[in-house]
Amino acid sequence: MSAVASRVVRLHEYGEPLDVLHEEQIEVAEPPEHRVRVKVIAVGLNPADWELCRGFMPARLPRGIGFDVAGVVDAVGIGVEGVEVGDVVVGFADFLAQPSAGVADVAILQSWVPVPEGLDPVQAAVLPMAVQTAAWTLDAMGVHPGSTVLVHGAGSMVGFAAVQIARREGAQVIATAGPTYAAELAGFGAAVTAYGDGMVARVRALAEGPVEHVLDTPPSHEGTLPALIEIAGNPDRVVTISNHEEARRLGARVNLDIISEPTPFEQLLPPYVTLAAAGQFRIPIAHTYPLDAWRDAVELSTSGRPRGKIVLLP
Ligand SMILES: NC(=O)c1ccc[n+]([C@@H]2O[C@H](COP(=O)([O-])OP(=O)(O)OC[C@H]3O[C@@H](n4cnc5c(N)ncnc54)[C@H](OP(=O)(O)O)[C@@H]3O)[C@@H](O)[C@H]2O)c1
Repeated sequence: MSAVASRVVRLHEYGEPLDVLHEEQIEVAEPPEHRVRVKVIAVGLNPADWELCRGFMPARLPRGIGFDVAGVVDAVGIGVEGVEVGDVVVGFADFLAQPSAGVADVAILQSWVPVPEGLDPVQAAVLPMAVQTAAWTLDAMGVHPGSTVLVHGAGSMVGFAAVQIARREGAQVIATAGPTYAAELAGFGAAVTAYGDGMVARVRALAEGPVEHVLDTPPSHEGTLPALIEIAGNPDRVVTISNHEEARRLGARVNLDIISEPTPFEQLLPPYVTLAAAGQFRIPIAHTYPLDAWRDAVELSTSGRPRGKIVLLP
């Protein structure tokens, strides 16, 4: 094993993504203990990448972007078992500890699972963040078979995952979404309506009873939580993944505050990659770009309306 040359997109100071991100050529070191290094096949982008550029989850600089990675293992750190050079895996880049992350030719992963036969690694690369966030949050909310849950903003990829997971767990699901994925969400068994003016009345009409849980998923959008609290009848039943300050001010909850003892990624993801391989679970991809076009990808993602995942292909 030795260090290998790689293009990486990373930042040396915090600020707006397109101001602080730069493509560089560096040497990616051998993987440390309990880590693997992969040749990246595909890296899915997330709104959290842009928050990270602005200073969220601070860590030593320089640091990289790109959490969700599918790739071929090219080196294995001490203490790693069950994976070999040449295996195709999907997981999270070691974005806190390494000087580069998934937007690269080569990346070091902190967690991974095998990509099963029949699942395109590009499709696998968009699963980790959306599935983990949705599953951990629904679990922390106490959504169970027979509960009624409103997934607000289910055209977001965490929301899209949450609808599928909640339905698989036997919940009654109401979803608000724009037109892009409304029909597909309905196909999962959700009652779907538009967000925006008149949403409270439309959701109430669909609910035929109390809405016990509300999950607020779209990118940060101050001003919607009061309507979601009105639907739930109690701020405590509303959990957001993006409007942290407003939620705390109004007595609603933030997922990061209520998730405790979450299922480890290595246990959580395998059922979903298996379902995805069988065509029974999916996170849609809006656009793939070659790595060199990362600036276009940033622009689409930061628009707040990418309408699916954005993937970079080294
Ligand atoms: N706390 C955590 O653990 C955690 C983890 C992951 C993500 N997040 C956060 O969760 C948010 C969603 O992430 P994501 O990756 O799922 O986002 P995403 O896929 O990029 O969401 C974009 C989509 O949301 C919908 N949308 C945009 N504005 C909306 C609004 N005002 N009302 C309803 N829907 C709206 C749009 O779809 P349509 O209009 O086509 O329906 C848009 O295409 C981000 O803020 C992210 O930072 C938090």
